[in-house]
Amino acid sequence: MSRLVIISNRVAVAKGRGAAGAQGGLAGALNSALKKFGGVWFGWSGQEADETTGHIQLHTNDGVTTATIDLSHHDVEEYYNGYANSTLWPLFHYRIDLTEYENETGRGYERVNEAFAQSVSPLIDPDDLVWVHDYHLLPLGERLRSKGLKNRIGFFLHTPWPPARLFVSLPYHERLVRTMLEYDLIGFQTDEWLGSFLHYCEKELGAEVDEATGRISFEGRTTYARAYPIGVDWDHIQAQAKLPEARQAAQRMLSSTRHRTAMIGVDRLDYSKGLPERIDGISRFFDQNPDRVRDLVFIQIAPPSREDVDSYQKIRAELEQKTGQINGARSEVDIVPIRYVNKGHSLAELCGFYSTAKIGLVTPLRDGMNLVAKEYVAVQDPEDPGVLILSQFAGAAHQLKDAVLVNPHSPDNLARAIRLALDMPLEERKRRYQSMVKSVREEDIHGWTDNFVGDLRSVGAD
Ligand code: G6P
Repeated sequence: MSRLVIISNRVAVAKGRGAAGAQGGLAGALNSALKKFGGVWFGWSGQEADETTGHIQLHTNDGVTTATIDLSHHDVEEYYNGYANSTLWPLFHYRIDLTEYENETGRGYERVNEAFAQSVSPLIDPDDLVWVHDYHLLPLGERLRSKGLKNRIGFFLHTPWPPARLFVSLPYHERLVRTMLEYDLIGFQTDEWLGSFLHYCEKELGAEVDEATGRISFEGRTTYARAYPIGVDWDHIQAQAKLPEARQAAQRMLSSTRHRTAMIGVDRLDYSKGLPERIDGISRFFDQNPDRVRDLVFIQIAPPSREDVDSYQKIRAELEQKTGQINGARSEVDIVPIRYVNKGHSLAELCGFYSTAKIGLVTPLRDGMNLVAKEYVAVQDPEDPGVLILSQFAGAAHQLKDAVLVNPHSPDNLARAIRLALDMPLEERKRRYQSMVKSVREEDIHGWTDNFVGDLRSVGAD
């Protein structure tokens, strides 16, 4: 059986960061895939050095080998803070108003992709399967091919892929997508992002696209693009939810919210998550239902993220201002309507919080998938489940159709959904929960890895 070589910007997430959603689940899933197939996980150490030397640090822990390199401050600025997080991230989340179009950071991005390829290629054996992750590394497959690699190389995008009309605002968009066509298989979270990518390849590149199989033929090469919706690690979550840490977290929530309904949001502090819009919706709910200020407490856990990037500093300031404003206006000496927490929490603690919150509020303006929505559902009490309010613009909405789906831009729509959730009869809560939990449990992370790796091995062989 071939080994697996996984390559992503980050290799593992420090414990306790919390709210990484996809990251936490992803780390677990990829670790278990590596244990199963053997292999190595390569990426940036998260550390800065004087220079990017490509020197590899190897660690083996619990049967999984990781290989990391440090990057120079200049490379981190141009590749990570610059092109990846100030250009591609906003563009892929449809925010061309926030997208920076600087050629210089683009060169840094290419430089780091080349440095990754140079460092990792000696670790790759001829029959290894190579699996590259996310927008930081779009051209990596092509860089690996330039080193003579003939291996099967797959790529998975964890974010949305924007409509072609937005994507063409990126200078050199064509060059970037051409490099992606060096992969054998490209995975997206939903049919929607897949459709945008195929449409771009057909209309802008002039590639031949077969929608039924996802086959893209271009200049003598064939690539397959398909949707693989990522899931949570069901068993792991259930185990975490039973830990004393989870029980204590639940107890803390219960004792501090007595007689009030807790509503929870857990997100990285990112403008794609719709946090100020969420606060506006809650504020509208209180305006329309002043008698219910005493009934409801909203807990927003939002660990800061990408703090060196301007747009993240701005969204943080905006959120602080909005929560301060509504708390000032609505608080009583014994009541604070919004608890705003910048700290990260472990998955076990989050499970405890989710299980005591009667409403889960997941309202991104755009999101590749959003695993917080699935985690929330996974730990509800089947006999008395909470209600998930979910943005129609999250990838998860394609599967969790029985959530209360909302337009996160509309404060009225959010306010109405909160009211509906608060008043929802037990029978309806159970019905919605049962349909959602079925999908969360059946389409879990192990199926996701097996499907992708299975296809990467076999695609195009017929
Ligand atoms: C999203 C991205 C991941 C990224 C994570 C945390 O989920 O798709 O690739 O690792 O956010 O962001 P960070 O910049 O801290 O790695």
